[in-house]
Amino acid sequence: MAYHVAIVGATGAVGTEFLTLLAERNFPISKLTLLASERSAGKTLEFRGEPVTVQALRPESFEGVEIAFFSAGASHSREYAPYAVQAGAIVVDNSSAFRQDPEVPLVIPEINPEAVQRHRAIIANPNCSTIIMLMALEPLRRLTRIRRIIVATYQSASGAGAQAMQELIDSTHAFLYGEPYEPKVLQHPYAFNLFSHNSPIGEDGYNEEERKMVLETRKIWNDPTVAVVPTCVRVPVLRAHSEAIVAEVEERPPLETLYEAYHQFSGVRVIDERDRNYFPMPLEATGRDEVLVGRIRYALDMPNGVALFASGDQLRKGAALNAIQIAEYLIRS
Ligand code: A2P
Repeated sequence: MAYHVAIVGATGAVGTEFLTLLAERNFPISKLTLLASERSAGKTLEFRGEPVTVQALRPESFEGVEIAFFSAGASHSREYAPYAVQAGAIVVDNSSAFRQDPEVPLVIPEINPEAVQRHRAIIANPNCSTIIMLMALEPLRRLTRIRRIIVATYQSASGAGAQAMQELIDSTHAFLYGEPYEPKVLQHPYAFNLFSHNSPIGEDGYNEEERKMVLETRKIWNDPTVAVVPTCVRVPVLRAHSEAIVAEVEERPPLETLYEAYHQFSGVRVIDERDRNYFPMPLEATGRDEVLVGRIRYALDMPNGVALFASGDQLRKGAALNAIQIAEYLIRS
């Protein structure tokens, strides 16, 4: 069986990754509808060597669509996902629009695949930093309960979209040639700099990205008591996020058991070579499906603490790949 698939936001950073991955994974597609803003209507994108014309997103865009991947921001998901559902499609939404809706499953297939079954036509894809953190913690969580997480992120430009990636390239070029550069997408100079995540900050001192990591972890783990203390930072890296994570667990497993668990789990790849200071790096995580994990060690003077460092491709496992894995799970079950 093959499906009529639509991608909303097809021209964006995540949208184009959908095209690459759907072809790479041989997703069964009978028809592909590419949707973006009015500005992109008439452009062509390549899929499996053939040009596909992009159409402007409209309420009537979903006729006959069976699976719709949304990646054009929360407001467009809120407005247009109901039209897709009305037309009979199942929506896998990459935005934050429905993630906290109790009726909508929030799924990482390696962690809570069973949640997919409860869907009522919309399934939410978690935030990229949350996916990368929870993938990096999953082998540990299978051994013991995790009570608390303290995490600092090193987030790439891709999470802020294709234009932010271009801004990183252009501003770096301008910096190197001593030319002036006025930031257009992000608020602060990006070349050779880093800054607190560009999402709005609340009265409690946490920005929206950090709040997503807190709330989404609780929902995916179905554990309302897990404590998460994130600090999210944007760094001048193009497309893979890294995270320094300390987890406090109920019972700390022996190190050998821990290493074995990480080596056995297919969603991560262990890179932990202390003798040559070789650990996860965003450049090496780029284009890979697995999250790279290393620096796996006990947290010093913290009896139940485990520390590690992870890098994961924000556009792949952090976005398009996870959404496609959800759809693959759906069509298999
Ligand atoms: P467009 O390229 O036509 O602006 P990114 O996250 O990389 O910035 O990508 C955002 C995606 O969302 C793009 O595909 C963009 O299309 C799409 N998008 C932005 N505004 C709209 C809109 N009003 N209607 C439909 N798609 C939109």
